[in-house]
Amino acid sequence: MKKLVVYESGTGFTKQYAEWIAQELSCSAVSLKQTTAEEVKQNDLVIFGGWIMGGMVCGLDKVLAMAPAHLIAFGVGSTPAEITDAAAMKQQNHLENVPFFYFVGGFRFEKLNFVFKIMLKTLKKSVVKKADKTPQEKFMADILGTSFDATDKKYMEPLLACVKETEAEVK
Ligand SMILES: Cc1cc2nc3c(=O)[nH]c(=O)nc-3n(C[C@H](O)[C@H](O)[C@H](O)COP(=O)(O)O)c2cc1C
Repeated sequence: MKKLVVYESGTGFTKQYAEWIAQELSCSAVSLKQTTAEEVKQNDLVIFGGWIMGGMVCGLDKVLAMAPAHLIAFGVGSTPAEITDAAAMKQQNHLENVPFFYFVGGFRFEKLNFVFKIMLKTLKKSVVKKADKTPQEKFMADILGTSFDATDKKYMEPLLACVKETEAEVK
């Protein structure tokens, strides 16, 4: 089964996961910006990973429009897995028929553009002030403006198992 990993990454965490997955599957990892619908269609299975912005997986609409034969998706965010509702995220991203996995990335605040920095500073001010914070808001109040790397290959395991299952079904 011919496989391709495609990614959309702003600060490098999603790219890192895409490269790790490609290594495990002995296939290539390419940036969404550098691939075409033709290249995508030459593959039996595409694994797409995008960074998460406001709960949405960046680049997903573009990959879906390329109509890959089979698609498995993952989203990379900074929120700890324990306080992330991956099922709700899957639904929010209209991925009812696509297997979806949430991976923890991190934050590279210094690599963000000016607009994102301002946006996050404003968000931090409002969550810090808020009484009765949700676990996600408490997390944001603590970490926004800082940088950390929480990538871990353990998050890839369910996705790699799903690739194996898909291969067995499609054969
Ligand atoms: C504007 C903005 C919005 C974000 N929204 C979310 C979010 O809703 N949930 C989350 O877990 N992380 C969120 N993040 C954090 C990124 O998803 C996280 O830093 C991710 O690891 C970035 O991946 P990348 O290095 O591949 O770009 C946001 C970051 C930015 C800059």
